[in-house]
Amino acid sequence: MRAVDIIIKKRDGLELSKEEIEFFIQGYTRGEIPDYQAAAWAMAVVLRGMTPRETTDLTLAMAASGETLDLSTVVPLAVDKHSTGGVGDKTTLVVEPVVAACGLPVGKMSGRGLGFTGGTLDKLESIPGYRTNLSTEEFLRQLREIGLVLTGQSADLAPADGKLYALRDVTGTVQSMPLIASSIMSKKIAAGAQAIVLDVKTGLGAFMQTLTEARELASLMVQIAHLAGRKAVALLSDMNQPLGHAVGNALEVREAIETLHGGGPADFREHCLVVAAHMLHLGEKAANVEEGRALAEAAIADGRAWETFRKLVVAQGGDVSYVDNPEKLPAARIVRPLPAPADGYLSRIHAREVGEAAVLLGAGRTRKGDPVNHAVGIVVHRKVGDFVQAGEPVMTIHADDEKTLAEALPRLEEALAWQKAPVEPLPLFYGVVS
Ligand code: URA
Repeated sequence: MRAVDIIIKKRDGLELSKEEIEFFIQGYTRGEIPDYQAAAWAMAVVLRGMTPRETTDLTLAMAASGETLDLSTVVPLAVDKHSTGGVGDKTTLVVEPVVAACGLPVGKMSGRGLGFTGGTLDKLESIPGYRTNLSTEEFLRQLREIGLVLTGQSADLAPADGKLYALRDVTGTVQSMPLIASSIMSKKIAAGAQAIVLDVKTGLGAFMQTLTEARELASLMVQIAHLAGRKAVALLSDMNQPLGHAVGNALEVREAIETLHGGGPADFREHCLVVAAHMLHLGEKAANVEEGRALAEAAIADGRAWETFRKLVVAQGGDVSYVDNPEKLPAARIVRPLPAPADGYLSRIHAREVGEAAVLLGAGRTRKGDPVNHAVGIVVHRKVGDFVQAGEPVMTIHADDEKTLAEALPRLEEALAWQKAPVEPLPLFYGVVS
């Protein structure tokens, strides 16, 4: 077999065999196929697409390109969740303790924020001492002992995806349904997931801007899961405006703590309950989604979810006094309200712009490996559809210096759009693909 023939076959719009896909992925991972051939191949995939069968074979070939975790000796059914990324998306911090408190063990390897979207690891590192670099052995031991792990990627999972993603990033080949779907699913499968709840975001602050694209990606990932012998369900959720109120690491941890205590913003709490309900159903702890939701609500109401979160923080070396007293978490030096310019209904809170403003404040990174400032961010007090009176604060900006505050402020003002006539609130979810 030759790489060039596989590139030509895809360029001409033909379907690649499993053997051809495996040859290409293995050769690329080992460095036998150079970047320029992989880039040409990726562009051919962007232009010609792939069938669900090809996409599944690509997913499995990338999953098999490195270490794969077998969680079957630790948990009866390994359930994982994945969000396609958004602004204010601190769902994992609430959902995983809730689900674990309901008796469904979850071990999750999360990522860092890049660009305008936040990452769970950066949020968790607002808690002094919290370790996000557990070894595979520590991961498995903690999953067995307390039924909950939230850490970074320890094993060498799906290295083919790591290499290919970096190449796609600089060759204009990110935007492709089969490449995105296989990239996400290969990492989940390599991390040992048997059942996956996918939270596919759509809207101004999402990778998939339209509902049609989000639905297509969701269906493809669910199809891949099924063809690969895994269970999956995908929720199509709104990311036109930030989820909840808080955007920024420690601010989001505080909001997650409030939610675990039974409070928190209504939209965020609802989002978490729906995701948890699907995980409990998929993980066979609940006969249906309604029962899953009731279990999740009970785990929050009687304090089990909170206790499980505390156990997680202790197990991973975090100073639990910071979550017991969230006012101890990093706090910004400047706290400045952004008032409404006139009476009116909020018709837009552009999630991407709010995320970009948070990056300007220092909450996120523009280059891999940059440090983040845990203290800074934005609290968005109102939602699309709300009536706000002139002078009432719409947001509060948490900044560490006047310079970044001055950069973020116009961006946040522009993120908002106003209307005199009433505006419909945005839905939280647009559907479920199963
Ligand atoms: N997230 C991933 O993990 N991979 C992609 O290709 C796009 C988003």
